Amino acid sequence: DYYAILMAGGVGSRFWPVSTQDFPKQFHDMLGTGDTLIQKTFNRLASLIPEENIFILTNERYNDLVYRQLPSVTKRQVVLEPAMRNTAPCILYASLKIHKENPDAVMIVAPSDHWIEDENAFTQNVRQAFEYCSNNDALMTLGITPTFPNTGYGYIEYDKDSTSNIKSVNQFREKPNYDTAKSFLSQGNFLWNAGIFMWSAKTVISVFQKNQPELYQLFEAGISVYNTENEYDFISNNYGKAENISVDYAIMEKSKNVYVIPATFDWNDLGTWGSLYDKLEKDNTGNAVVNAKTLTTDASGNMIRTKHNKVVVVDGLEDYIIVDKDEVLLIFPKTKEQDIKKVLQSVKDKF
Ligand code: GDD
Ligand code: MG
Repeated sequence: DYYAILMAGGVGSRFWPVSTQDFPKQFHDMLGTGDTLIQKTFNRLASLIPEENIFILTNERYNDLVYRQLPSVTKRQVVLEPAMRNTAPCILYASLKIHKENPDAVMIVAPSDHWIEDENAFTQNVRQAFEYCSNNDALMTLGITPTFPNTGYGYIEYDKDSTSNIKSVNQFREKPNYDTAKSFLSQGNFLWNAGIFMWSAKTVISVFQKNQPELYQLFEAGISVYNTENEYDFISNNYGKAENISVDYAIMEKSKNVYVIPATFDWNDLGTWGSLYDKLEKDNTGNAVVNAKTLTTDASGNMIRTKHNKVVVVDGLEDYIIVDKDEVLLIFPKTKEQDIKKVLQSVKDKF
């Protein structure tokens, strides 16, 4: 049977001021479509997987947001983390729970905040992966053709000689430095990791057991209480002891049985205001506008968003992020968008 693990515990700090610790980007309608990112992701997965088998992994503090935005999910489907420990601990924990419920489970692990253009192509790729992982001991990834040496992604080197659509992977390298990323791009047989994984519960658990024995022992010790009323106590006493490590470093870089399907859909991980700008429709002067009525003169390339559909007048400004929310107004050049994370740290005590 097919399951999904939807990861929704990140903070999205580069989308400040819209995304905040209390209300991160996956719970916002970043694209202006009427659905929040987590709702869009849930619906996308629901076309592949029975709704009751979609599990949401998130921090305790987002409990209410999950139930409000996904009213059909039950307590069984919401896996709460009492501490932020990145993706490896929560994936192992949820996989053990799912495996206990259904030892034959095959699952997709997906971020809750990505943009995927062609949902049919996505569905096809995942179906193929599911079939393969049902019959093979495989860690399956989806690979995106890289366009520049982005150091924020994982890189997947696939077997050049493979003629099949499912390619075996020579190496998985998480967030290489710039020079390494550049050399990867020039070699031609590297793809970006989309951050979406498929595998059987059985396979991923044994891979954790082999490569992260401490993490495995920590969570395996609770197996008898999972899916019972005593689970909460075990997790609140133990989750914080887990190492803070992402699934990419914890198992993907270390495993031999990694495979990749080159994605046939357009993908964007919506990591920054600029990447959101790229995916939104532009007005006739080239500005992307969400939730605002704009009057622009001699202004293009701007990402404009307000909270209450404000009138925004912009003259003589190019390639800026203009975002207004309650007590904060951000006017920031797109070229420096990575610095928003740092700016947030230095202004935190001002509001
Ligand atoms: N439940 C939960 N708990 N979710 C988390 C946690 C956590 O502690 N930390 C992060 N997440 C969620 C984020 O909300 C996001 O949806 C997803 O897990 C991935 O985390 P990121 O922090 O966004 O990872 P990344 O962007 O640095 O790198 C990953 O994604 C890239 C593609 O976007 C890696 O898989 C890279 O290899 C990949 O290229
Ligand atoms: Mg990310």
